[in-house]
Amino acid sequence: MTTTAPEHLLTADGVTMRFGGLTALDDVGLRVDPGTVVGLIGPNGAGKTTLFNVLSGVLRPTRGVVSWKGAPRSGGRTHHLARAGIARTFQGLNLFPMMTVLGNVMVGADRLARGGAFSLVSGLGRHHRDERELRERATAALERFGVGEHAHRLPGTLPYGVQKQVALARACAGEPELLLLDEPASGLSGHETAELGERIRELSKDMAVVLVEHHMDLVMDVCDRVVVLDFGRVISTGTPEEVQADPAVTRAYLGTSDVPSTGPDDGNGDRR
Ligand SMILES: Nc1ncnc2c1ncn2[C@@H]1O[C@H](COP(=O)(O)OP(=O)(O)O)[C@@H](O)[C@H]1O
Ligand SMILES: [Mg+2]
Repeated sequence: MTTTAPEHLLTADGVTMRFGGLTALDDVGLRVDPGTVVGLIGPNGAGKTTLFNVLSGVLRPTRGVVSWKGAPRSGGRTHHLARAGIARTFQGLNLFPMMTVLGNVMVGADRLARGGAFSLVSGLGRHHRDERELRERATAALERFGVGEHAHRLPGTLPYGVQKQVALARACAGEPELLLLDEPASGLSGHETAELGERIRELSKDMAVVLVEHHMDLVMDVCDRVVVLDFGRVISTGTPEEVQADPAVTRAYLGTSDVPSTGPDDGNGDRR
C-alpha cells in the first residue's frame, strides 16, 4: 500500500473484542493524529485497557481493523510494535525487578539500536558500539525524566513515583511516534500529577499520546480530544470541555463510585 503523508497516525475502525460471552469492546472507532494528546476515559470495566491492548497489538480484535499510518495491521508482539514507533506504559509498572533502572530503560531504547536489548541483557553477542549507544540513549532518557541518579538501583528499592518516571523513561527512550499511557497518574501525589501533566504536554511536541486516566484535572489539562467508553462502546467524543458537558458522560458515571473528578482508580473495580 502506498501512503502519502498520512494525516492519521493510528486509527481503529469497528473494533470489537469478545472474551467468551463478554463483549469488552463493541464497534469502537478512534483516531490519533500526530502531535495530539487523546484522552480515553470511562468507568471501571468500560474497556479502556482492552482497547489499549488492541491498539498496541497485544490483543488481536475479534472484529475490526487497526491501521498504523494508513496501513492496516494484524496483531503483533509489543516488541515488534516498538519497531513500528509505538510505545506504552502499563497500568502496573511492569519494570523488570532483577534488572537495574538503566537496564530497564536500555530495553526501551532498543528500537533505535541495531541488535536486540534482550540479546544484550542475556549476554549473547552484540557489538560494543550498539551497547554504548543504547546506554547513552537510556541515560539521556533517565536524565530527561529527572531520575538519572537512580540508574544503578533496582526498581523495587525506589519510591513509587520514581519507578513511574522510570517506566515513562523506558517507554520514551526509543523515541516513539505514539505513546500509550495507561493510568500514569495512579498512585501519584497531586504535585507529582501536576508535574506529569507538564511532562505529557512537553512530550506531545515530539510524539502523539493516548492517555487513559481517571484524574479529570489531568485529562482536561493535557488532552486535545477525549473519547469516552462505557460498556465497551464509545458514548462521547470531543474536546475535554465538550465531553465534560455531555449528559451521556454524566449518566455513564452515575451510580458508580467512579466519579471522574475524584482520585486514582485502583484498576480492580468492575461493574459487570
Ligand atoms: N483477558 C480477559 N478475559 C476476560 N475478560 C476480560 C479480559 N480482559 C478484560 N476483560 C473484561 O473486559 C471488560 C473491560 O475491561 P478493561 O478493558 O480492563 O476495562 P477498564 O480498563 O476500562 O477498567 C471487563 O468486564 C473485564 O472484566
Ligand atoms: Mg484499565
